[in-house]
Amino acid sequence: MKGVILAGGLGTRLYPLTHATNKHLLPVYDRPMIFYPIETLVKAGITDIMIVVGGPHAGHFLRVLRNGKHLGIKNLSFAYQEREGGIADALSLAEDYADNENVVVILGDNCTDADISDDVKEFSDGAKIFLKKVIDPHRFGVTTFDSDGKIIEITEKPRTPKSSYAVTGLYIYDNTVFDKIKNIKPSKRGELEITDVNKLYLREGKLSWSELKGYWRDAGTFDTLFEVNSYWFQKKNS
Ligand code: DAU
Repeated sequence: MKGVILAGGLGTRLYPLTHATNKHLLPVYDRPMIFYPIETLVKAGITDIMIVVGGPHAGHFLRVLRNGKHLGIKNLSFAYQEREGGIADALSLAEDYADNENVVVILGDNCTDADISDDVKEFSDGAKIFLKKVIDPHRFGVTTFDSDGKIIEITEKPRTPKSSYAVTGLYIYDNTVFDKIKNIKPSKRGELEITDVNKLYLREGKLSWSELKGYWRDAGTFDTLFEVNSYWFQKKNS
């Protein structure tokens, strides 16, 4: 299976830090943020990786990652997202690269120490999402369940969340994901939303989920960037 890391967008929530470099190259304790999603994929046996980059500092990725061999990557490819068209728009750029294979997708600001190797091995078709109980679900895609624990609804950033289960930025998709992206429309914020893609799988009865085991946080705001830094500081110094 191939891996895709989505590291496009402008990182405006982190201005003025992201005036100097790309958000995904900012430090998380002793390493650039992007090393964490790369490690998640490599640990799961995925060494053929495309990174979708964007913004004015895209060239910095090459300086930091080079050919990726020092991080365990065997084949490293890049795509450039022209505008901030949304997560699903960024993923659409990996269609030719995926070449009809299934893909594991991770958002470039998602830092986790979870091991998803078994999920990758067991995946056959449809889509799999990973959920995590959080104290601030309104910041995420949020799922609602029926009495059997089946997902019945996913809502992007709900004002009043119906559960505390956030959809993390880790997804496994079969190759129909690229056709699904072509069938969704931009949301009110003008982006092609990954939640709308997941809803299409849900409607087909093809969306499975499991709870992500381990630490997980996105590092996309000042508070969470600080929190993620201190988690890895403590982990490495305890
Ligand atoms: O972190 C998990 C959450 O990520 C999910 O719960 C939400 O359902 C999902 O929409 C997403 O929400 P965010 O608002 O946190 O996404 P954000 O715009 O911060 O983008 C996260 C990463 O996705 C970013 O670090 C790079 C990539 N991205 C984002 C956009 C908007 C792109 O590659 N291109 C883009 O155009």
